[in-house]
Amino acid sequence: MSTPSASPEPEIRRGLNGVVADTTAISTVSTATNTLLYRGYPVQELAESTPFEAVADLLWTGDLPDADRLAEIQRQERSLRGLSETVQGVLDALPADTHPMDAVRTAVSVLGALEPSAEDISPEAELRKARELFAQLPAIVAYEQRRRWDVRGELEAHDPQGVGRLVPPRDDLDYCQNFLWMTFGETAPAPVVDAFRVSMVLYAEHSFNASTFTARVIASTLSDLHSAVVGAIGALKGPLHGGANEAVMHTFDEIGLREDESREEAFARAEAWLTDALARKQKIMGFGHRVYKNGDSRVPTMHAALERMIAHYERPEILGLYDGLREAMGRAKGIHPNLDYPAGPTYHLMGFDTEMFTPLFIASRVTGWTAHVREQHAHNALIRPLSAYDGVEERHLP
Ligand code: COA
Repeated sequence: MSTPSASPEPEIRRGLNGVVADTTAISTVSTATNTLLYRGYPVQELAESTPFEAVADLLWTGDLPDADRLAEIQRQERSLRGLSETVQGVLDALPADTHPMDAVRTAVSVLGALEPSAEDISPEAELRKARELFAQLPAIVAYEQRRRWDVRGELEAHDPQGVGRLVPPRDDLDYCQNFLWMTFGETAPAPVVDAFRVSMVLYAEHSFNASTFTARVIASTLSDLHSAVVGAIGALKGPLHGGANEAVMHTFDEIGLREDESREEAFARAEAWLTDALARKQKIMGFGHRVYKNGDSRVPTMHAALERMIAHYERPEILGLYDGLREAMGRAKGIHPNLDYPAGPTYHLMGFDTEMFTPLFIASRVTGWTAHVREQHAHNALIRPLSAYDGVEERHLP
């Protein structure tokens, strides 16, 4: 009688590092150029001047809309911008110190509960829901920012129209212009709108990152689109993922923002801070990436947008902190910045509260998440990996 051969040890990839979980036609990082491609287009090309509404449509449908189709999409997006009164009431009822990520996650969950066809996961229904969520998120994020200012007694400074917490949307403004209008209650200058658009385009999609994979896991149970997005927001919140753009600004705050300082003085303080932080084995937020080990292809484009904002707001000391950390980190560890590193200070210069940075990321990434939910449902397989047990041996009750 032959003895059974021992089953091979399963290979365990912690963090699913290096595991290819499925195919996707939505985006990839080109191995030849290290460039992120959305449906084949390099993101830096899309970031030059493509409206964010067109990029969203590209992710959902696979193609950029022509001029007529774009006009139709923009008209539709403008008609869906109003903040639901129920959502507004729920946001108003939250405690003053609720983190905006929790507030926005709650608001999306409320929209899911209000959705009359929640269980309809057909491609048509999911495209409609994706478009509606896309159009609603600026209103939710802008309202949450203004609610925070209001509870802190700071709203008046941001209320040139005297309208209070809710700034009604404007049909004559595009997605990005209107987002800034609903937040700040005034039309933003063109360079600011453009830097904001660049950030939205760059944040929109990145294959099987943690939040998108979370959305796909939820969708794979044949659950609904809003549930998948709520779960994705939970994953995005963590500082190892989207929360890093907020964490970058906390680092800048810890080093200290001194508006009267020169670029060189700020640079030297940042370098000294970094040496000390690395000696304490601290992780430096906004640096490193699971996929890009030789630099994040989105960073040069966002960096250029940040430099335009620094020039616009005349804040060279921010560039000093930025370059000081970046150069010292490169020397000490050879680790490069990721997109969150230039995005954080860009949003700060625009006037958003630091805690609002990751909700801005939600407003963009909802396009990628919902594209992936539709793709998952089009070729569904339940996502359910195995685990290798390393707990106690079988035992029995006395
Ligand atoms: N600061 C300091 N050291 C870092 C680092 C950072 N930001 N990122 C990576 N490292 C170091 C790790 O300490 C580790 O060193 P070790 O081998 O001596 O232990 C090595 O580089 C590998 O890092 P690891 O965390 O295992 O790589 P990963 O692929 O699992 O992680 C991130 C990728 C993004 C989670 C990681 O780089 C990180 O935590 N970055 C900061 C958070 C951030 O900016 N997130 C946004 C990502 S877009």
